[in-house]
Amino acid sequence: MAAEEEGLTGPDEAWPAPEPDPRSGSGSDVRPGPEHRPEPRSVPELLLGRPPMARPLPSFDAEAAPAEPGPLFVDWLATALAAGVLDPQAFTLSTVDADGMPDARVLVLRDVDAAGTGWNFSAAADSPKGRQLADHPAAALSVYWPQLGRQVRVRGTVERAADLVAAAEFATRSPAARVGALVGRQSEPMSSLAEYDEAVAVARRRLEATPDAVAAGHAVYTLWAHEVEYWQGDAQRRHVRLRYTRTGPVRTPEWSRTLLWP
Ligand SMILES: Cc1cc2nc3c(=O)[nH]c(=O)nc-3n(C[C@H](O)[C@H](O)[C@H](O)COP(=O)(O)O)c2cc1C
Repeated sequence: MAAEEEGLTGPDEAWPAPEPDPRSGSGSDVRPGPEHRPEPRSVPELLLGRPPMARPLPSFDAEAAPAEPGPLFVDWLATALAAGVLDPQAFTLSTVDADGMPDARVLVLRDVDAAGTGWNFSAAADSPKGRQLADHPAAALSVYWPQLGRQVRVRGTVERAADLVAAAEFATRSPAARVGALVGRQSEPMSSLAEYDEAVAVARRRLEATPDAVAAGHAVYTLWAHEVEYWQGDAQRRHVRLRYTRTGPVRTPEWSRTLLWP
């Protein structure tokens, strides 16, 4: 069936004529604003004609890549920032719960050591992700930078840093971030937004009275990488993949490099 017959030619043509707004004059020239648009029709329809990465993308000379994954991450992150990628430090942290059920959420990457061995992030230890990491201290971290068609994936074991390290990291956070962490109870059911606003006001007063207060359970984690993969997308599907595999014990910055079939 042709796209036109299915009404796939574009959202404007498929919209029904707008209902006249009884509050305005004749209403004959009213275009529907976003609040009047019909529900999106279907996912395939919305994505029709929008293949991912159909644009010029940078090249990646994997055979000339550094011996360790760390310098390449700094290089790619700097390129992402220069290319205008928004929030390039936002990555997906995947964990598994006690039943082996996977879970994933976006967090902020804090640091990566020079060799690309230790990848740091912070989180509430009493949140679902914190409990999952306590039960099963292994995780995957992934990030996609669309403007560059680049993905980075990291897998490894996770270690929680000492409380002193977490307290020092907490002090570097913005007041708003500290207030949010002091509120706590992350991912618990909440009865109303008013209840939350009240808790924020309490946390704000606490931080004003005790500027060096640290949220209970604030934790810094290091993912000790076992594998780090760099993936450069290509509009013609000649994607280039390079995987670093740690060859020594945990934490040792010794890596082998392997090209992977896309
Ligand atoms: C861009 C972005 C950044 C985020 N940064 C953090 C963060 O640094 N720490 C955090 O706990 N949650 C952060 N979140 C919220 C998490 O994705 C998640 O909703 C929350 O941590 C609860 O996850 P959990 O229930 O699996 O523990 C961020 C979300 C987004 C979209």
